[in-house]
Amino acid sequence: MKRRHFIRIWDLKKEEALGLINRALELKRNKNWERKFIGKILGLIFEKPSTRTRISFESAMIKWGGSSIFLSSKDLQLSRGEPIKDTARVISRYIDILVLRTYKQETIEEFAKYSSIPVINGLSDRFHPCQVLSDIMTVIEKGKDLYKDKIVWIGDGNNVAQSWIEASALLGFKLVLACPKGFEPEEELLKEAKEIYKAQIEIVNNPEEAIKGAEVINTDVWTSMGQEEESEKRRFAFKNFQVNNELLKLADPSAIVLHCLPAHRDEEITEEVLEGHQSVVWDQAENKMWLHMALIEFLLER
Ligand code: CP
Ligand code: NVA
Repeated sequence: MKRRHFIRIWDLKKEEALGLINRALELKRNKNWERKFIGKILGLIFEKPSTRTRISFESAMIKWGGSSIFLSSKDLQLSRGEPIKDTARVISRYIDILVLRTYKQETIEEFAKYSSIPVINGLSDRFHPCQVLSDIMTVIEKGKDLYKDKIVWIGDGNNVAQSWIEASALLGFKLVLACPKGFEPEEELLKEAKEIYKAQIEIVNNPEEAIKGAEVINTDVWTSMGQEEESEKRRFAFKNFQVNNELLKLADPSAIVLHCLPAHRDEEITEEVLEGHQSVVWDQAENKMWLHMALIEFLLER
């Protein structure tokens, strides 16, 4: 069977995405699995820092009985100009599955093209697909209904937002995003979501309008990794997009608040909201590990 990659949410079929989320929920609930990947190796090559994605993937592989090797891209000959296509073919001979965290989406695509093992996107400038699958797992775990409850994104139309857009299109739930003017998601992606998947996605520039009656509220940093030079400009552009108690009052009283972390307290989210009773961020962070277990199993058993 042809090897599969997971580079964006749209690499999956709807049933596969839902199957992964259900499997992750089952693994978390039952805490009972066979150590069936003894001798298998997960590699991780990261161009950017990571706490959650790295550790949750390594733990997931160890729980399956396998091992992991973490490498900063700086340690590889890649940093001295060895082509990706050579690196990908060599690494494919040593390990069984690879997670990449890169600046450019194209870097992951090039790796995947030459790799004979499954390649997973552990965050790029365009997408963070593993994050959003585990976020949806959290939404379901907390008893929210993807198809009935209002789901909103407040803030930057960034990599995480764009994976939410792909998830909304693939799974067929409605999504409202409130982004400052000039910080909306890619137009081409929205066009594809609407034309190919008939997605019901609304982009507004007013956070109060978006959050009204919402049951699921997502936010993320205003300045993503690699955009540090723009942070001053972004702080100014996003100042009305902070998820604080005042804004949260407009949501449904039972609303939950998600943030993929790390959070910048008193930028995109206040301390009160992050630590408040509506925040689900710690369960959300834990769920990355269960989802990654399900994903490793899915890709290794193809
Ligand atoms: N949410 C997330 O991807 O966190 P890390 O950058 O710590 O991996
Ligand atoms: N949008 C953030 C997510 C971090 C997990 C970034 O890319 O830095």
